[in-house]
Amino acid sequence: MQRTSQKVSMAVIRRLPKYYRYLENLLNKEIYRISSKELSRIIGFTASQIRQDLNCFGGFGQQGYGYNVEELYKEIGKILGLVREYKSVIIGAGNLGQAIANYSDFQRKGFKLKAMFDINPKLIGLKIRDVEILDVDNLEDFIKENDIEVGIICVPFSKAQETADRLIAAGIKGIWNFAPFDIKVPDNIVIENVHLSESLFTLSYLLNEYNNPED
Ligand code: NAI
Repeated sequence: MQRTSQKVSMAVIRRLPKYYRYLENLLNKEIYRISSKELSRIIGFTASQIRQDLNCFGGFGQQGYGYNVEELYKEIGKILGLVREYKSVIIGAGNLGQAIANYSDFQRKGFKLKAMFDINPKLIGLKIRDVEILDVDNLEDFIKENDIEVGIICVPFSKAQETADRLIAAGIKGIWNFAPFDIKVPDNIVIENVHLSESLFTLSYLLNEYNNPED
């Protein structure tokens, strides 16, 4: 499979995790081959959209055969960088931090959680699964000593920027931010914000739209 050298648009990149998730579901059901029409039906993108998306990376399908699910899954995994480990830490071991730590699938996908950090002495020393909650005073030393690449921010919004600044100064490369705050980072740092409330408010809009079509 050859990749094209041209830059792939963010819109395509944003769709790849969905392909990856559906292909994983197919593999779990032991489905190894799928037509572009059927893939389009289950995933909700048009067959032409799928062809266009995958052509950005050199194309995967074969005329008259469709897609080889396992090959496509592996290739999209490679494109998404899910072929190696990313050592990670969570900062803020409260409700959300602990929920993320308890979810083992992120670890299976390569995001290895090495430690959690908090300022609350009642939490320091506890373990979530096998991961210890450490004093946030040790954050910088831990990141440097353990080559941590990813910081997951789960602190209150008022502490989000200072937490990010500390992570960046210690050498982190990427931030997964859950705090409802627009963190500023230098160009060489990647940041991905997650806001469940945005999705929830979309649901709220749709509920009202469909329940009150006359309004
Ligand atoms: P929480 O209060 O249960 O946990 C926050 C933790 O951060 C506490 O354990 C606290 O001791 C710790 N903390 C405070 N300052 C710190 C610092 N400087 N360094 C290290 N630890 C520090 O709050 P919860 O519910 O877990 O929410 C955490 C963050 O995630 C909040 O900013 C919240 O708004 C956000 N959130 C975001 C969601 C999303 O969809 N993006 C969904 C739910 C929460």
